[in-house]
Amino acid sequence: MDKFDWLESFELGIEEVDEDHRGMLALMKKIEGAADNESYDLCNELLEELLAFTIAHFKREEQMLEDVGYPNVDLHKDYHQELLARAKSVMSVCQDIKSKDNLKECCYEMFSFLVDDVVTGDLKFKSYLEDKGLIKRP
Ligand SMILES: [Fe+2]
Ligand SMILES: [Fe+2]
Repeated sequence: MDKFDWLESFELGIEEVDEDHRGMLALMKKIEGAADNESYDLCNELLEELLAFTIAHFKREEQMLEDVGYPNVDLHKDYHQELLARAKSVMSVCQDIKSKDNLKECCYEMFSFLVDDVVTGDLKFKSYLEDKGLIKRP
């Protein structure tokens, strides 16, 4: 999962959000490990856990955006729903796979939708928070 490794150092500068994103990445690494060990049941459980964690993260993030009066909060909510729908449909495919390499490929595809939130979606509100002085510019 080298392609997601750099995510570890990817930070928006909003502690609660960054912490959630790190939690998502940690779960993805656990899933990768379970797939490597061909622990299919564990892998399926962890995928469910990742989905639940991401749903909770999206809720927290949306609440934070509402609290600070971010004008495009509805757009970001729609974006989250879209990512979740895609991640869920790929996840259900992953959960039926019983071959290590195919499973890993499938998991990476699911992760890519969730990683999109971190590296693409959330950057859109970063500058708003900076303008409001809620986070420091680097
Ligand atoms: Fe996020
Ligand atoms: Fe987001």
